[in-house]
Amino acid sequence: MVPTNKPRNFLNIGLLIAGLFLIGWRLVLPGSAGSLNQSAEEGAQIFQQSCQACHSIGKGDLVGPDLQGVTQRRDAAWLVQFITQPDVVLASGDTVAQELLQKYGVPMPYLGITEAQAQSLIAYLEAPDAVAAAPAAPALPAGQAAAGKALFTGQTSLANGGTPCIACHSTLGVGSAGGGVLGPDLTNVNTRLGTAGLTSALQTLPFPTMQGIFNTRPLTQQEQSDLLAYLQQTDQQTVVSSAMNINLFWGIGIGGAVILSAIMLLFWPRQRQSISARLRATSSATRK
Ligand code: HEC
Ligand code: HEC
Repeated sequence: MVPTNKPRNFLNIGLLIAGLFLIGWRLVLPGSAGSLNQSAEEGAQIFQQSCQACHSIGKGDLVGPDLQGVTQRRDAAWLVQFITQPDVVLASGDTVAQELLQKYGVPMPYLGITEAQAQSLIAYLEAPDAVAAAPAAPALPAGQAAAGKALFTGQTSLANGGTPCIACHSTLGVGSAGGGVLGPDLTNVNTRLGTAGLTSALQTLPFPTMQGIFNTRPLTQQEQSDLLAYLQQTDQQTVVSSAMNINLFWGIGIGGAVILSAIMLLFWPRQRQSISARLRATSSATRK
């Protein structure tokens, strides 16, 4: 009788172990709260840390494009490549990358994202909950352009010890006085990034070169507001001054042409005469 019971005992023990294993699994890995699976949740965290300063999901363009529906716009292999090595994809002459750069005016920086992390990010971007999980587009209280200019030039020190912007950037008003050239000219950055893009850029300064400084020395919210007001002012001023420059250009051009012709009319015949006179003089001198 004993041998016939053996298989059933094994079965019971097997079921018991399987049951304990399942309970243990639930205890070790308490399931996700929302409907995001594990990979998408990892993606959500990476998105918050590394992407959110420049991208929203369903809340409009910031520095870069709104990423809602990007997994339908682009194929998965391209997305992995672009997220892990945007610089390499652009350098390869990829037409999509080139069109994106043309439209947004700034290249997406290399951020050191691994292929596995990119897969998690894509899982997050595909998840229907992604929109709800992503925060709203940023906004700043009103700032003062004059205070922003003083911060930009270093006349007022940044509260947390960040390097003044002028060390690496110029604007129309301060460029000629020797603004830095490591970073791009910021005169029209408000137009280039859009106000929402510039606002979110000022909140985190997510550009690789600046992260080394501003990661640990962030701008205060008041500084962000004042700098935004200043950069919006330089943006508006150049729209006016470029129209003025065109008038000035024509003014100098026409005025200069009139003056030049007057000078030529006055001196040209006399000079010609004097040259021929000189020629006559030298030829007569050699003949002697
Ligand atoms: C400093 C700003 C910045 C950061 C940070 C950033 N991006 Fe971008 N991203 C851009 C810009 C600008 C573009 C569009 C212009 C370009 O690609 O040259 C772009 C384009 C993209 C595109 C292509 C969108 C399309 O419509 O095809 C994807 C996908 C993307 N980014 C994903 C990410 C992910 C994922 C992260 C985080 C790991 C991230 N980006 C972080 C600025 C940024
Ligand atoms: C150490 C040099 C450095 C300092 C200091 C610095 N930046 Fe930058 N910034 C750069 C560089 C370089 C870039 C171009 C992107 C990159 O390579 O990281 C850049 C890009 C930017 C951009 C995006 C420009 C564009 O056309 O897309 C903005 C906006 C910006 N900086 C604002 C600021 C502000 C505001 C300050 C001062 C609070 C500042 N930066 C201080 C080096 C600097």
